[in-house]
Amino acid sequence: MIFSALFNLASVASVAFAAADCTGINAVAPQCVSQEALHYRDFFYIGGRYVAGAAGNLTYDQLYVEKLTPAAGVNQSKPVVLSHGGGTSGVVSHNRKGFASHFLDYGYQVYIIDQTSVGRGSAEDLDDYVMRIGSTAEITEKGFTAPELTNAYPQSQQHTQWPGSGVKGDSVFDAFESTFIPLTSNLTIQELSMRSSGCQLLSLIGPSFLISHSIGALHPLLLSNDCPALVAGNINLEPGNIPFQSYVGNTTSSVGRTSARPWGMTNTHVTYEPAISDSSELTYELVGDDTPAKRSCYMQTGTIHKLTEIAKVKYVALTGSASPHITYEHCVIDFLEQAGVATEWIKLADKGIVGNGHFGYLEKNSPQIAGVVHEWIQSNC
Ligand SMILES: *[C@@H]1O[C@H](CO)[C@@H](O)[C@H](O)[C@H]1NC(C)=O
Ligand SMILES: *[C@@H]1O[C@H](CO)[C@@H](O)[C@H](O)[C@H]1NC(C)=O
Ligand SMILES: *[C@@H]1O[C@H](CO)[C@@H](O)[C@H](O)[C@H]1NC(C)=O
Ligand SMILES: *[C@@H]1O[C@H](CO)[C@@H](O)[C@H](O)[C@H]1NC(C)=O
Repeated sequence: MIFSALFNLASVASVAFAAADCTGINAVAPQCVSQEALHYRDFFYIGGRYVAGAAGNLTYDQLYVEKLTPAAGVNQSKPVVLSHGGGTSGVVSHNRKGFASHFLDYGYQVYIIDQTSVGRGSAEDLDDYVMRIGSTAEITEKGFTAPELTNAYPQSQQHTQWPGSGVKGDSVFDAFESTFIPLTSNLTIQELSMRSSGCQLLSLIGPSFLISHSIGALHPLLLSNDCPALVAGNINLEPGNIPFQSYVGNTTSSVGRTSARPWGMTNTHVTYEPAISDSSELTYELVGDDTPAKRSCYMQTGTIHKLTEIAKVKYVALTGSASPHITYEHCVIDFLEQAGVATEWIKLADKGIVGNGHFGYLEKNSPQIAGVVHEWIQSNC
C-alpha cells in the first residue's frame, strides 16, 4: 500500500514535470494542451490521374488537402487556402498556435495543402525525378531563424521575433527544422500537376483567397492564370518567385545569382499579350542600383508583354522588416506592375509590425500578421 502510494505520487510528480515544458516537439505529450483553435478536420486527395505502368495503373499528381472548419461555424463568405513554402509542407500551418488557427478564429473555412510532390502530395515519378534537400540546419539558422548571429544581410540585425534562440539544440528550432523534408528538384513537373489539381480543388470549393509563403507563390500565380474566376485574391507572404533569377547569400551583382523561372515568375508557360509561344521571346535587363540593402531587378525591355489572365486577380505581397526579402521584393512588384498587374505591397513595418524574418507568419507576432491578411481580405471580398 505504502509502496503503491509512493509510486503514484512519483508518477504524478513526473507527469506534472513533463507538462511544464510543452515547447517545440515536447507538445506531442498527452498532457500538453493543444493551442489550436477548436475545429473539425476532414482530409482529401484532389485531382490526379491514372498512369499505366508495368505493375498496373498508378495515380499521380493528386493534391493532399485538409479541410478545417471552425467549431463555432463559418461566417466568412470565401475560404482561405494555405500553401506552404519550399522544403516544408502543410504541417507548418499548425505549430504552437499555428497560422491556420488565426483564420479559424476569424470564422473562415480553412484549407491546408501539401503541394504535389511534397509530403503527402504526389507527382509522376519519371526516371529524372530527383528529390533535393528541404533545408539544412545551417541554411535555416542563417536564412530564417537567427540571421542576426552571422549578420547574414544588413536588415538581419533587426530580427527579434523568432521564438527561442533560433539555433540547433533549442527545442523550437529543432521542431521547426524537423518540418523540412525532401522535395522534387523538377519544378516543371510540380507546376504542371499543381495547375491541374489546384484548379480542380478551386472548382470544388469555389472562389477562394490563396495565401502562400515563399516559393509556394509559384502556384497561386499559375492558378490566377488558369482559373482566375476561382481565385478571389492572391496573397503572398514573402513571395520567392523573383523574376528570372534567384538570389543566394549576401553578394551583389551577378555573383550569387542564378537564373531561374524563364517565364518571368514561373517555370511553365503563362499567358502573355502580345502572345508568345516560347519564353525566349521575352527580353529583359537588370535595372536599378545593386547594394546588399536593395537589389537590382530584371525588367522587360522592348515590347512589354502583359500578363492578361494573371491581371484579373488582385495581388498583394507582405514582407517582414528583417527578412532578406525586404532587399528584393520590389523586383516582384515592379515586374508585375510593368506587366499590367495591379499589385499592393505591404511592408509590415509600415503597419507597426517589426522584427520579422522570412518565416514571419510562424514567429511570435504571427497573430498580428494574420490580422493584416484578414484586413486585406475584408477590404477585397
Ligand atoms: C491500365 O489501365 C488501362 C486503361 O483502363 C488498361 O487498358 C490497362 O490494362 C491497365 N494496365 C494494367 C497493367 O492493368
Ligand atoms: C465570425 O466568427 C468569429 C468566431 O466565432 C467571431 O469572432 C467573429 O466576430 C465573427 N465575425 C462576424 C463578422 O460575424
Ligand atoms: C522535368 O520534367 C519535365 C516534364 O516532365 C521534363 O521534360 C524535364 O526533362 C525534367 N527536367 C529535368 C532537369 O529533369
Ligand atoms: C552582408 O553584407 C553586409 C553589408 O555589406 C556586411 O556588413 C555583412 O558582414 C555581410 N554578411 C556576410 C555574412 O557576409
